Amino acid sequence: MTSVRVSTRADLRAARRRRPHSCWGHLVAAPLWPMHGENLGTLLRTCDAVGACLAVPRLPWVPEALARGNTLRHRTCVHFTGDPVRWLTRQREQGARVVGVELADESIRLADLPAARARTVAVLGHERHGIEPAAVDLLDQVVEIPMVGHGTTLNVAVAGSLVLYKLAGLL
Ligand SMILES: C[S@@+](CC[C@H](N)C(=O)[O-])C[C@H]1O[C@@H](n2cnc3c(N)ncnc32)[C@H](O)[C@@H]1O
Repeated sequence: MTSVRVSTRADLRAARRRRPHSCWGHLVAAPLWPMHGENLGTLLRTCDAVGACLAVPRLPWVPEALARGNTLRHRTCVHFTGDPVRWLTRQREQGARVVGVELADESIRLADLPAARARTVAVLGHERHGIEPAAVDLLDQVVEIPMVGHGTTLNVAVAGSLVLYKLAGLL
């Protein structure tokens, strides 16, 4: 049997970055049509863990939902977007690769998704309606997480977190 010493909080803190970042830049999680604030809080924590930024629309309830869901003590990188389709168009024009996280005929499987080498935006869909049709046309690639159970989809924060870890090269 292997002897296991579980890391303490002090161990974990010592292994982490000392200073918060202003903008990690190359990886961005984009839940552009959010419905539930809790999912934004979960995604924000994953963004911090993998070194990504979060892009969210400037809806009146979003800042408070982020503040409530953010259990981290330091500053995180949040970009407020305007119209999602216009924002995505601008990201592409500026050279970002836009990866849709969605179940689609053209999707590749998560295991085949390479780590992001250049600026990459991971687009997450609305909790009920998925990615807006006008935004689907702006995706360079679509990735899906295979499922074998009875449910048709995963929670958006779970799906986003898995894809972010893969894009960050941490899985
Ligand atoms: C609950 S799903 C959306 C509902 C779905 N379009 C439907 O009609 O059942 C919310 C979002 O989570 C993400 N998602 C959930 N499960 C996924 C999976 N297995 N693979 C990829 N993305 C997934 C997608 O971004 C999706 O738009």
